[in-house]
Amino acid sequence: MSKKHLEGKNVLVTGAGRGIGRAVALRCAQEGARVVVCDYGVAQDGSDPTSEVADAVVAEIQAAGGEAVSVAGDISDMSVAEGAVRMAVGRWGSIDGAVCVAGILRERMLFNMTEEEFDDVIRVHLKGHFTVFRHASAIMRKQDTGGSLVAFTSGAHTGSVSQANYAAAKSGIVGLTRSAALGLSRYGVRANAVAPIARTRMSAGVPTEMSDMGEPEDVAPMVVYLLSDASKDVTAQMYTITGNKIAVWNQTVEIREMRAATDQWSVDDIVARFDEVGQEVHPFMVEVERRRQDALAGSRPNQ
Ligand SMILES: NC(=O)c1ccc[n+]([C@@H]2O[C@H](COP(=O)([O-])OP(=O)(O)OC[C@H]3O[C@@H](n4cnc5c(N)ncnc54)[C@H](O)[C@@H]3O)[C@@H](O)[C@H]2O)c1
Repeated sequence: MSKKHLEGKNVLVTGAGRGIGRAVALRCAQEGARVVVCDYGVAQDGSDPTSEVADAVVAEIQAAGGEAVSVAGDISDMSVAEGAVRMAVGRWGSIDGAVCVAGILRERMLFNMTEEEFDDVIRVHLKGHFTVFRHASAIMRKQDTGGSLVAFTSGAHTGSVSQANYAAAKSGIVGLTRSAALGLSRYGVRANAVAPIARTRMSAGVPTEMSDMGEPEDVAPMVVYLLSDASKDVTAQMYTITGNKIAVWNQTVEIREMRAATDQWSVDDIVARFDEVGQEVHPFMVEVERRRQDALAGSRPNQ
């Protein structure tokens, strides 16, 4: 039998009741970790919570000979996250990894989006990372062995046509993760983000021709790697994981600048010299424009 990569580690996984989170929790347990399975058991829009979803995954782990405990609360609640971290520390003595997978969707064009739809998505995704990172890192920084934080972002962090709330949350998660990596490196705590693409209820509406598509189980090995000691020098990174592909994203840096001849730019000078910085075409803008043209063509009567 091959080496278990998380032997002796205690890991918390949010959104662990379904989809990718479930696959991550099961794989962590197979790799020797004890797992706090956090899941509110909600519908895709965040409604109708039930504890059965988290309990079922705990039962699966235990049936396979692993150790796990469930937390069925709303992870965007500070006290739920603190309780989940304390659960690992109280029962097993440490918290070595925290993986934030929980998420909901409230898709709507920006001009129709309600305040509630915006707030709920930001709360579950972005605050649901802060709560866990905050409480886990407070313990991890005092442990000799440090710890590993794994965030779940999305390719949509670069922008999305009809999910401005989700894109904003996923972009915020990237900033939060990089900040965690920078602020916690001196304590031996690492933070990385993954952008998965996998067949779940959440991705059911994504046209498959638009992207690669894999299974939740394809995402889990890289998350295990990021939690393991094998990645002890890996931090502040973002990886796409889908099917048999793992890709690293670049770091966002300035790429061109222009300087005014005096202390301050005048608008006239910017107009005259703007092309020196110019603009970077958004990769999806080409596709958005193509779809607009298709829609226009489709709306014309056949000739
Ligand atoms: N599936 C994809 O292709 C894809 C693509 C990009 C990003 N993601 C991200 O990956 C993550 C997992 O997505 P998935 O497709 O497995 O989704 P999923 O809907 O299958 O699972 C999400 C889980 O999170 C739980 N959850 C929701 N709100 C919660 C809360 N407040 N507290 C605790 N648990 C809560 C749900 O009960 C559910 O079990 C999400 O963060 C998602 O944004 C997924």
